[in-house]
Amino acid sequence: MDVLYFIKAEHESVRSALEGFRSAHGVTDRREKFSALKQLLSVHLKLEENYLYPELSGMFAGSELVIDVALAGHSILARNLDAIDKLLHKPLAAQDGIAKKEEALFELVVKHIDSQEHELMPRIRELIATGAREELGFVLLDAKEELMGSAEPVSAAPDKVKSASSDRSSSGKAAAKVAGKRRA
Ligand SMILES: [Fe+2]
Repeated sequence: MDVLYFIKAEHESVRSALEGFRSAHGVTDRREKFSALKQLLSVHLKLEENYLYPELSGMFAGSELVIDVALAGHSILARNLDAIDKLLHKPLAAQDGIAKKEEALFELVVKHIDSQEHELMPRIRELIATGAREELGFVLLDAKEELMGSAEPVSAAPDKVKSASSDRSSSGKAAAKVAGKRRA
């Protein structure tokens, strides 16, 4: 599966889960829709941090800066998700400021999708050969199945973002190892 197809399909799912949450009514419905969105988005960010960005490191001029900006965006998004999650589990009267945080979440998700689809994906298409893109797509797909199948709720916590940022080479090697296994 081409990694570009995989990412685009993930973005569509995130967009749809976000719309589902924005149109939810009532405490239980809003909590359930948000939980689904948070899980989906957290897994998506983690996949990009652990398997996509390491592949892009050093691939083009300014790639490190592009990755650092992306990781900083992930970190803000993760904090926003956690803040909304906490507020949603408080009584309605104690959910001060949640509307603003939800608006920020919408803007952050749109920004994430736009910057990846308009700036990063064209570079991936140009710089990574079709066969390698397909290998990478399967690496992300396998990793997603593992993450979604794990019993623990996934969180794109800021410390994980930091670790992805500071250990790109080893993450990249991990991806290559999985890809190698698939080829064998
Ligand atoms: Fe993305």
